[in-house]
Amino acid sequence: MFKDLLHCLSRPNIAVDLGTANTRIYSSLNGETTDNPSSMHLVVRKTAPVSNDYFHYINNKITTKPLRRGVIVDLKNATILLKKLVNTNRKSLLAPMALATAPIGTTEKERDLLRKALINAGTSHVAIIPESRAAAIGAGMDLTLPHAQMLVDIGDGVTEMAVFRGERIIYHATVHIACSDLHRSVRSTILARHRVQLESTSVEKLTHVISSMLDEQESNVEIFDISGIDAVQGKSVSCCVNKRDVINAIEPILMKFTVMIVNFLKKLPDKIYYEILESGITLTGGGACIAGLDKLIASRTNIKVIVAIDPLHAVINGARQSLNYWIGKKGGWENFTWPKLTALR
Ligand SMILES: Nc1ncnc2c1ncn2[C@@H]1O[C@H](COP(=O)(O)OP(=O)(O)OP(=O)(O)O)[C@@H](O)[C@H]1O
Ligand SMILES: [Mg+2]
Repeated sequence: MFKDLLHCLSRPNIAVDLGTANTRIYSSLNGETTDNPSSMHLVVRKTAPVSNDYFHYINNKITTKPLRRGVIVDLKNATILLKKLVNTNRKSLLAPMALATAPIGTTEKERDLLRKALINAGTSHVAIIPESRAAAIGAGMDLTLPHAQMLVDIGDGVTEMAVFRGERIIYHATVHIACSDLHRSVRSTILARHRVQLESTSVEKLTHVISSMLDEQESNVEIFDISGIDAVQGKSVSCCVNKRDVINAIEPILMKFTVMIVNFLKKLPDKIYYEILESGITLTGGGACIAGLDKLIASRTNIKVIVAIDPLHAVINGARQSLNYWIGKKGGWENFTWPKLTALR
């Protein structure tokens, strides 16, 4: 009873990671983090004229995504999405204050949209920190170390690279190649070859073929039994997918992606590059969950790659830690300002 009253009278603090595919919110009131899809379902027709799996599949797929490549493109729906989440985390008479994260390569205008969406959603104050910094903290990197360390966060829409040294981000780059590009390629290849529309979970599963890419023999033999919807008959089916077809579909994207990392490393001053050679590259984000992607990056960069313990929650865990560290301190997180950063081009 007394605890409930205290909750009602105290101003909650929330940390927000508004991602292209997932939105994660931590609330200081209950100490919990919630994961939510960043897409909103739009029902076009509630019932199919005849029973048709494909109709239901397509109907379920009709969604709107307020974010593209990590930034808000639809303020109205971003606000609706956030309002629901902010309200479930409120439990107080006072509006919560938010510590949000934004991709390091965002413009002032794009961060203003995020601020606006959160204020419209019911928060009283918004401070924004770079997503990479939060990811590095959440991944357990010690940012006070005097030598350079590198983080690569592979999300659904964007990949961020950042080099930290002595608490600062000294170089960074944002790349518009991430998990959704791998998915699109796998999906269209299977649709063209087998006329089968795959479920998201099947597509995700297929991206794990990367783990056999480094072994020529293994990449040729195995066949998956994957379920989806026959696009012509409109029925659920399962089909056999050759690993080689999937590898061929994603290889051009992986090539572009790894070349971006290699080019980023090449542009670094020698001293920084050699420090990273020692400390390695830490991977976070959904892409870090893809089996074999770490080994592929390591083989193409010749640098050891460390996958963070909970890569999907690195950003929100880092934002949560920043929030908890600064709560109650003078000149706390409410006064955070976006740092001056050097993008490597
Ligand atoms: N176990 C897994 N295997 C393969 N892919 C996965 C796995 N877990 C998550 N993903 C993929 O990771 C992506 C989501 O990652 P994440 O939550 O880091 O993205 P996001 O933060 O929403 O996007 P962004 O940071 O680009 O705005 C999705 O494309 C999802 O399919
Ligand atoms: Mg993200």
